[in-house]
Amino acid sequence: MITIHRLEACVFDLDGVIVDTAKYHYQAWKDLANSLGFDFSEAQNELLKGVSRMGSLDLILQWGGVEKSKKEKEALAAWKNEHYLELIESLGIQDALPGVVDFLKELSKHGIKIGLGSASKNAVKIISKLKLNSHFDAIVDGTQVTNGKPHPETFQLACEKLKVAPKNTIVFEDAPKGVQAALSGGMVAVGVGSEESLSEAHLVIAGFESLYLEHLINKLPTLELTASTSN
Ligand code: BG6
Ligand code: MG
Repeated sequence: MITIHRLEACVFDLDGVIVDTAKYHYQAWKDLANSLGFDFSEAQNELLKGVSRMGSLDLILQWGGVEKSKKEKEALAAWKNEHYLELIESLGIQDALPGVVDFLKELSKHGIKIGLGSASKNAVKIISKLKLNSHFDAIVDGTQVTNGKPHPETFQLACEKLKVAPKNTIVFEDAPKGVQAALSGGMVAVGVGSEESLSEAHLVIAGFESLYLEHLINKLPTLELTASTSN
């Protein structure tokens, strides 16, 4: 027995889904690690995606075998963030990932609500830099949650704000931890990136270029665009 749900909302992760900022997070953390005398790999960086600033710092220090006091960690996290903000200084709509803005417009045309569910405390700033504010009906960022991804709180709060049921919501995520958060929140998880790292998602797409809502829905057997039916 398959229950078919009507799609009510789409909730987007920010870094690596809406905008190409993941490379700048990596660069800023790498420069911080190098200043402490060690390095970490691209594969290790994958584990930082979707992880809060402090959570990321803890992992990096662990990889470098470096111990720091709480105060020192706060200073390091602040340094990283300042450096990151310098790197994204000239960020603009040209940095939106290909096709994503057209996809947001298509969702609005169909009356689908749009939310942002990001671990980043810089999310509002970045959305403003891209001038995408008007596309979002609700924004949840790293300043509003107690439990980071893979805990579902970020996406649950987004659904609450949008007044939609999680099961009628698609979450778009580029991080395995984000996909896990969507799944444990009872949402439909669409991975954005490689099948290999996001295999837990209901569906993986390479990106938003030439992505049409109807084609997407056709690939998600529990969702449909209009009627809400149970059988
Ligand atoms: C996530 C990124 O979106 O936000 C992580 O994937 C980042 O890499 C996290 O650490 C927190 O971001 P910020 O901007 O608050 O340091
Ligand atoms: Mg991301």
